[in-house]
Amino acid sequence: MTEEQFIPKTYSEIIESGSYTWSSPSNIALVKYWGKRDNQIPENPSISFTLDACKTTTTLSFSKKGNQDSFSFDVFLDGKQQDDFKPKIETFFKRIEAYLPFLKNYHFKIETANTFPHSSGIASSASGMSALALCLMSIEKDLSTPLEVTKDYFIKKASFLARLGSGSACRSLEGDLVVWGNHDEIDGSSDLFGFKYPFEVHDVFKNYHDTILLVDKGEKQVSSTVGHGLMHGHPFAKERFKQAHINLSSLINIFKIGDLKTFIDIVESEALTLHAMMMTSMPYFILMKPNTLEIINKIWTFRKETGSHVCFTLDAGANVHVLYPENEAEQVYEFIKSELVAYCQNGHYICDRIGFGAKEILGD
Ligand code: PMV
Repeated sequence: MTEEQFIPKTYSEIIESGSYTWSSPSNIALVKYWGKRDNQIPENPSISFTLDACKTTTTLSFSKKGNQDSFSFDVFLDGKQQDDFKPKIETFFKRIEAYLPFLKNYHFKIETANTFPHSSGIASSASGMSALALCLMSIEKDLSTPLEVTKDYFIKKASFLARLGSGSACRSLEGDLVVWGNHDEIDGSSDLFGFKYPFEVHDVFKNYHDTILLVDKGEKQVSSTVGHGLMHGHPFAKERFKQAHINLSSLINIFKIGDLKTFIDIVESEALTLHAMMMTSMPYFILMKPNTLEIINKIWTFRKETGSHVCFTLDAGANVHVLYPENEAEQVYEFIKSELVAYCQNGHYICDRIGFGAKEILGD
């Protein structure tokens, strides 16, 4: 598909007002996206587990307005007006206006709530942008003739829009594994939107756990946007992008046969490579904290001593995602409580697991 295919023909229906609610989860990348071209096009393909418990629920209410020269919206987080979110949403609306030409016709009220604390250091952009994109697609569906917006088009375009809000958000709409970015061996994969992983996945990956250890809840010193930018002219960028293609190729067989040992090698290497890219960019920066490393070392020791298949991954921050299969959940959870929680800020962590994507919340 091309970008042009997401530009709608004139809408057939007229709607004065309405309201939609969608709940959309966060996701955790196994092969990381780090580095992008213009218009949020990734430099390499990535794949993620969709999460379940960490999610955003957004209600978008809309009503026709007279002046159609500019965007008009208010944003509320947990019932409180949140004007500091407005610039990000204004930028998002500008980027997607060509694909949703109704945006200036309505005043919007965006009411959003996260299941995880705003100050947890967990990015709400993936769940938040995907929930908002889905609400906007519900409006487009109403404005179009019934056959125009198929289920497939709805999800693809919602993911396409979410990507323009925050790259990794395009992987949050479906579950339980989503690929984003062209990959030679995955027919249907695209730089433009997330694509549900199409191949066989061994049962050992079903109900996979992700316990998120909140090591540092503070504001990140370097935003993802700046970090992605530093991959331009990065001395190791070309090799890194190549490596991501290779790692995703290897995962195809790993998922099929349930090879946890090699899965761990790739997932942990991807996490450390992401942070190595940060440490070797110019300017360089470090997002891990001493406790991030303490946790990683504890996990390695535990694995060696017990033969467990627990492993870690990191996003662009200090928090550690502890990944483990369902059949080891009891033993690993005990280990987390007894040995890892001490390294979390105020002992805080979130128990999550692989999930199945966004859901529309229907009113009465
Ligand atoms: O979607 P962004 O621009 O916030 O970038 C996310 C980048 C990582 O979380 C570090 C990796 C990924 O693939 O999700």
